[in-house]
Amino acid sequence: MKKLLVLVILLASTFFVFTACNGGESKSENKTETSTDSLELDSASCSNETIMDPNNPKPMALMMREMVKNADKMRAKLESGENLDSSAFPFLRFYLVEPTDPNVLEPQFFENARLFQESYKAIFAHQQEQKKYYNLMINRCVKCHESYCSGPLKRIRKLPLN
Ligand code: HEC
Repeated sequence: MKKLLVLVILLASTFFVFTACNGGESKSENKTETSTDSLELDSASCSNETIMDPNNPKPMALMMREMVKNADKMRAKLESGENLDSSAFPFLRFYLVEPTDPNVLEPQFFENARLFQESYKAIFAHQQEQKKYYNLMINRCVKCHESYCSGPLKRIRKLPLN
């Protein structure tokens, strides 16, 4: 568990060094390029199974796997009547690390990420209603995945609490 987290952080920082070395100023230009490119692709990404390479996962894919494991743990704790502590479940900034398909990095993706982050924080701001806010957070996973990566939806739809 801890090992994987360290690996994810390592991978994430390598990515940053890599992008920094590739000329920081041209970053904004690249962004507009990719967002126009992705107009046709629209909801492409990992709805297509072949884009998800399970043997050579990118940092974003690794973080997503970590997020599923965390959600499973949250769910189990809530089911057994325990409260969730924010220090045990830090928010993973998945939107800052390299995805398998760079076309996903467009404004709508970042807006979905922002809404997801808000709903994640809301769980810890509502200690008395954590089950409800946990389910709202999972809804945000679903919302983004409906647009960008429909492959894991089956898995994600098992996460809500009754
Ligand atoms: C803002 C959009 C967004 C949100 C929110 C989001 N995801 Fe993802 N998710 C993605 C994208 C894009 C990928 C593809 C990442 C890649 O392949 O690099 C992905 C990949 C995944 C994968 C596949 C990882 C693999 O093994 O390749 C799983 C599982 C997953 N997400 C689960 C979740 C869960 C659970 C949540 C909520 C706790 C969540 N996602 C929230 C966009 C999102």
